[in-house]
Amino acid sequence: MELKKIGVVGCGLMGHGIVQIAAQAGFQVFAFEAKQEFLDKGLARIEKSLSKMAAKSVEKGKASAEDAEKGAAETRARITGTLDQKDLADCDLVIEAIIEDLDLKKQLYKELGAICKPETIFATNTSSFPVAEMGEASGRPERMVGLHFFNPVQLMRLVEVVRTEKTTDEVFATAKSFGEATRKVPVACKDTPGFVVNRLLVPYMVQSLLMLERGDATAADIDAAMQFGCGHPMGPITLTDYVGLDTTLSIVEGWVERYPNEPAFAIPEILRTKVKEGKLGRKTGEGFYKWDGDKKA
Ligand SMILES: NC(=O)c1ccc[n+]([C@@H]2O[C@H](COP(=O)([O-])OP(=O)(O)OC[C@H]3O[C@@H](n4cnc5c(N)ncnc54)[C@H](O)[C@@H]3O)[C@@H](O)[C@H]2O)c1
Repeated sequence: MELKKIGVVGCGLMGHGIVQIAAQAGFQVFAFEAKQEFLDKGLARIEKSLSKMAAKSVEKGKASAEDAEKGAAETRARITGTLDQKDLADCDLVIEAIIEDLDLKKQLYKELGAICKPETIFATNTSSFPVAEMGEASGRPERMVGLHFFNPVQLMRLVEVVRTEKTTDEVFATAKSFGEATRKVPVACKDTPGFVVNRLLVPYMVQSLLMLERGDATAADIDAAMQFGCGHPMGPITLTDYVGLDTTLSIVEGWVERYPNEPAFAIPEILRTKVKEGKLGRKTGEGFYKWDGDKKA
C-alpha cells in the first residue's frame, strides 16, 4: 500500500519528532493535538529542530544557506497542525503518540476506528502496552501495528515494528516501509512486553537498582562499571535518572501486574520510595543523583 498522508496524534516529546521525520521524508503530515497550547508547543519544537539542522548542514558545508532554508521550508509546508480529529479521516497511516495510558489510548482508537477510512493503518508508539488491545479497540485489529520510535526521534536510528497475531502481512510491510522511508533501521518484533529494547533494558535497570538497594555497590560504582567495563555511554542508574523514575516505575508496575510469573519484572523498593518523594530524576533536579539541568550536580 502506498502511503501519502500521515496523521500523528499527540505532538509531545515523541509526537513532534515523528511529525518532523515524516515531513522530512516527503509525506504530507497532519499533527493532531488535544489543545492549542500543546500543538503550538510541538510545532515550535519542530521549528527549533529544523533551524538547528539547517544551520548544522551549512556549518558542515553540506548545503548553502539558501538550500538549507529551502529544505526546511519544504518540510514545514508539508505539516498541518490541527485540533480537528476529522482531519485524520483520510490519512493512510495514523501514528499515535499520546501519553502512556491504556484507557486513554483505547478510547482514542475507538474514535479513530469510527472516523478513519477503512484502509487507514493504525500504529502506536507505546513503550509498554500490548498493541493487540489497541487493535481490538479500533475495531480493525488486522490493520494495527506498533511503530516504536526512540527519543530523540530525529536522531535515534531505530524503529521497532511490532506485529500482533492479527496484523496482516501487507500492513506490516507498509509500516516497515514507512520506517525505511524515514531513514530509520526497522526491526521486526512480536507483540511482547517491551518489544526488543525495553525488554532487555528495563530489567537491566531494575537489576542495577536492586543491587544498589542491597548495598552491593554504590550508584557511582555500578555506573562506572558498566560505562568503563562494557563501553556503555552511561551506566544504568544514570540512565534511570534520564528516563525518569516515574516512567520506569510505571512500566515495571504494569508488567508485574500483567506478568506476575516473569522473574525479570520486579519493583525495587528504592524506586517506589524515590517516586513517592517526588525525586523523579533529571527532570525534577534529583533522582538517584542530583542534577543541574542536563548535567549531574
Ligand atoms: N518519552 C520517551 O522517551 C518515549 C520513547 C518511546 C516511546 N514513548 C511513548 O510515546 C508516547 C508518547 O510519549 P511522550 O513522551 O511523547 O509523551 P508527552 O507527554 O510528551 O506527549 C503526549 C502528548 O499527547 C497529547 N495528548 C494526550 N491525549 C491526547 C488525545 N486524546 N488526543 C490528542 N493528543 C493527546 C498531550 O497533549 C501531549 O502533548 C507514549 O506512549 C510513550 O510511552 C515515549
